[in-house]
Amino acid sequence: MKYGRTLSQASNRFIASICIFLALSISAFGQTNTSKPTTSTLMANGQDPTKGSTYVGADTCKTCHEDLYKTGFVHTPHIGLIRTGKRGCEDCHGPGSAHVEGGGDVTKIIRFSQLSVAEVSERCLSCHQTSAETSNFGRSAHMAKGIGCLTCHSPHHAKEGPSLLVNTQLTLCYGCHAKQKAEFARPYRHRVDVGLIQCSDCHNPHGTFVSNQLRTDAAGFEVCVKCHSEKSGPFSFEHMPVKQEGCMSCHTPHGSSNQRLLRVSQVNLLCLQCHTAIDGRDIPGMPSFHNQATKYQACTMCHTQIHGSNFNEFFFK
Ligand code: HEC
Ligand code: HEC
Ligand code: HEC
Ligand code: HEC
Ligand code: HEC
Ligand code: HEC
Ligand code: HEC
Ligand code: HEC
Ligand code: HEC
Ligand code: HEC
Repeated sequence: MKYGRTLSQASNRFIASICIFLALSISAFGQTNTSKPTTSTLMANGQDPTKGSTYVGADTCKTCHEDLYKTGFVHTPHIGLIRTGKRGCEDCHGPGSAHVEGGGDVTKIIRFSQLSVAEVSERCLSCHQTSAETSNFGRSAHMAKGIGCLTCHSPHHAKEGPSLLVNTQLTLCYGCHAKQKAEFARPYRHRVDVGLIQCSDCHNPHGTFVSNQLRTDAAGFEVCVKCHSEKSGPFSFEHMPVKQEGCMSCHTPHGSSNQRLLRVSQVNLLCLQCHTAIDGRDIPGMPSFHNQATKYQACTMCHTQIHGSNFNEFFFK
């Protein structure tokens, strides 16, 4: 699996750089290189508590931390560290010999509770930076607002499955995004509440290259046709806004009080936003026989293939 390979490459780099680091006995902790994933063990107070320590292995840690080993490690994905020949506990907490010799001296081991949000993220990203899923964290709105990995994840005390989340995804997101919670409570909505679709189907909480942390394309075409593939065409007769402005020109993504997640309450009002004869605009107005009679208000009764058609330029079929 590509992800696994890149991650283990990253981990190898991580281990390799620790070896170099020990060999050279660099003491200038302040001079960490920020342009690449760093393995700095810098603490909030500028000290590395594990400096001078050597690795003792997870089995030694287990002798005193057996409960945690059993309930918060062996069944988590991080057991993969040991399976792939790495150290396990000490990959995250640093080498533990002094901690052990001190009978569990907490000042000689990396404690995540003592690290700043940025230091925690840096440490996690020393392995996870290379995965496409998490590599954009540095440009995410979450990072910019001081939200780090441990707001959403816990390696030892996760409530939710393989992704080590501290709570269900929906509870997590709603906890901070009340406005979106209200949108998803509207009569017409994507059913995140029953798990038909998740926030992370459209967004990547770790940030992306496009706005709104959307997985693809800001205008909302790619991100939608992943599931609604029948709307993607290409069609012999395209309805121009679908491709040019994207699905968001007519729909809202989360929820709406209008049927079909439409931006406006009546279909004809939606169409008239563009199809009103205005000089100099190259969008056709309606033909004159489209009077205001009720019959002509239900535009999509006749123009049924409103997302594009292979048979008719007016989208009748
Ligand atoms: C000789 C027993 C012993 C061994 C072996 C041992 N620890 Fe500890 N460890 C302790 C004790 C005692 C504490 C303090 C517990 C407390 O404050 O609740 C502690 C605390 C810690 C803490 C800090 C907890 C906090 O308060 O944040 C970490 C992290 C930790 N150990 C990791 C390790 C790792 C990693 C290893 C293996 C390298 C290891 N320990 C091996 C006894 C041990
Ligand atoms: C992937 C990184 C990672 C690995 C691997 C890891 N830890 Fe931790 N450890 C953490 C983080 C982060 C915390 C802070 C609590 C949390 O978010 O779960 C923590 C907290 C702790 C604590 C504080 C007490 C507690 O329950 O939170 C102890 C003790 C500890 N780890 C010991 C260990 C031991 C022993 C191992 C190996 C069996 C280990 N850790 C493996 C990241 C890691
Ligand atoms: C030493 C390297 C290393 C460090 C440091 C590390 N991880 Fe991991 N992480 C891994 C490996 C290896 C896996 C297992 C990947 C797999 O099985 O494909 C993993 C898996 C995960 C997963 C589950 C991925 C999935 O497939 O669902 C999460 C979530 C995660 N780590 C979060 C964290 C967090 C948060 C931190 C910082 C506290 C952290 N990791 C630190 C190596 C690391
Ligand atoms: C705002 C909450 C949030 C923050 C902050 C966050 N994550 Fe995640 N993370 C998630 C959610 C939700 C998922 C599950 C996504 C899914 O199921 O599609 C996830 C999944 C992951 C995975 C598994 C990815 C995969 O390939 O499936 C890893 C690894 C991970 N996170 C690591 C991290 C690291 C490292 C950090 C900090 C740099 C971090 N996360 C910060 C919410 C968050
Ligand atoms: C069907 C895809 C989809 C799903 C599912 C989805 N979103 Fe969005 N979200 C979008 C799109 C598209 C935008 C951009 C809106 C725009 O451009 O008008 C957006 C915008 C946002 C924004 C930016 C502010 C705003 O409202 O404009 C936040 C925050 C947000 N979503 C949070 C969430 C949360 C939390 C969830 C899950 C409860 C979620 N989204 C589920 C597609 C989705
Ligand atoms: C700890 C609080 C917190 C949690 C938990 C959280 N967010 Fe956010 N989120 C924020 C803040 C703060 C912002 C920045 C909002 C702003 O700048 O207006 C943000 C921004 C966003 C944005 C908009 C990004 C942009 O470019 O404007 C999206 C989308 C988003 N979050 C989705 C999610 C999803 C999905 C989850 C659940 C996996 C989640 N958030 C969990 C606090 C949180
Ligand atoms: C992860 C898959 C997925 C993605 C991505 C997705 N949808 Fe959906 N969408 C669904 C499902 C499933 C339904 C049916 C919901 C139901 O039956 O409750 C649906 C229903 C709809 C409906 C019809 C609602 C109704 O009342 O009949 C519209 C409109 C819609 N989606 C638009 C969008 C737009 C716009 C986007 C991009 C922002 C998008 N979808 C992205 C899965 C998805
Ligand atoms: C020009 C406006 C417009 C654009 C752009 C648009 N839609 Fe629609 N869409 C509509 C209208 C109007 C309806 C309601 C049709 C009806 O009532 O029969 C609808 C209905 C839907 C439905 C539910 C009924 C069905 O046909 O399955 C889905 C799903 C949907 N659109 C998805 C999308 C997606 C995905 C995109 C982007 C690729 C998109 N729409 C772009 C106007 C638009
Ligand atoms: C966001 C603007 C926008 C909205 C909203 C919109 N359209 Fe269009 N429509 C266009 C554009 C642009 C064209 C392409 C004109 C061209 O090809 O020169 C077009 C083309 C058409 C055509 C084909 C005209 C021709 O001569 O080939 C029909 C029919 C049509 N739209 C009907 C509708 C209906 C019905 C609705 C409401 C459900 C609607 N449109 C909503 C922008 C819009
Ligand atoms: C009863 C069926 C019917 C309804 C309802 C209907 N139309 Fe039409 N529409 C037509 C026919 C028939 C044509 C002409 C096709 C032709 O010229 O061969 C047409 C043509 C169009 C054109 C193309 C004009 C041009 O010059 O290229 C647009 C735009 C259009 N309709 C928009 C709408 C809008 C907006 C609504 C809702 C307010 C609507 N239609 C409702 C039947 C309908």
